[in-house]
Amino acid sequence: MSPVEDPALERTAELLAGSRRGVAFTGAGISAESGIPVFRGEGGLWTTMDPYRVASIAQFRKDPGAYWRYSLENRRTGAEPNPAHRALKALEDAGIIHAVITQNTDGLHQKAGSGDVIELHGSSSRVVCFDCAGEFSREEIDRINRAQTPPPCPGCGGTYLKPTVVLFGESLPLQALCRAEVEAESADLMLVVGSSLQVYPAAGIPEKALEQGASLCIVNAEATPLDARARAVVTGKAGEILPQIAIRAAALRGAVRG
Ligand code: APR
Ligand code: ZN
Repeated sequence: MSPVEDPALERTAELLAGSRRGVAFTGAGISAESGIPVFRGEGGLWTTMDPYRVASIAQFRKDPGAYWRYSLENRRTGAEPNPAHRALKALEDAGIIHAVITQNTDGLHQKAGSGDVIELHGSSSRVVCFDCAGEFSREEIDRINRAQTPPPCPGCGGTYLKPTVVLFGESLPLQALCRAEVEAESADLMLVVGSSLQVYPAAGIPEKALEQGASLCIVNAEATPLDARARAVVTGKAGEILPQIAIRAAALRGAVRG
């Protein structure tokens, strides 16, 4: 089997094929080719908006209506998984990737069929009420929001309904964080895809994997702070790169396992 022309891509495929327990760690960049904007880097949302003004829990508590008006005008519901999401599913089917730890809240890994998705930053499709702790689907609350903003809680009538998306100043869901740490401690390879690796504690997960001796491979459109510690860095679009890696790694795995 001839190696692919990009040595870093070939190296990543080899490391995945030879790994005992591969885990993926993804960020907004993996969903960019599904039409969902990233936060940092070229065209990122936070290059034109102040995240602490539009996406902080302090601001939400002051004026939940601003959050829901923004949602009414900007929410994207038609996004579909792109070839990068499907490549991670293929790597799971090949027994190479065992879990996907994601900072994304778009649900596209689940839509692509990935079986074990750990949502570090919550989900835009689940809504919780701060007054009565009721939980609702986003569809139901979006329907109410179209008639009345901020939407009153179907359970108690309160107006502090919020998607479980983690806002700045909020803690991460403990169960997801603990699960991600367990995966980072037991992986022998972590594949980072589409993250600037600048937001903690999430960005500490690949660092934890490195600290216990795992290999790190990074697929990203721009440089990240962990590039120097990675075994391979493939620069470019995940939707173009990951399918090549998945095909190559599965073929090498098949050759290795015979
Ligand atoms: N393929 C691969 N990488 C891409 C692509 C692409 N098609 N498009 C953009 N990128 C890269 C960018 O170069 C950038 O380095 O994806 C990275 C996305 O970085 P961020 O926008 O910072 O996203 P992320 O790392 O997920 O941010 C973490 O910050 O604002 C919070 O809660 C938010 O979960 C988010 C967290
Ligand atoms: Zn309520």
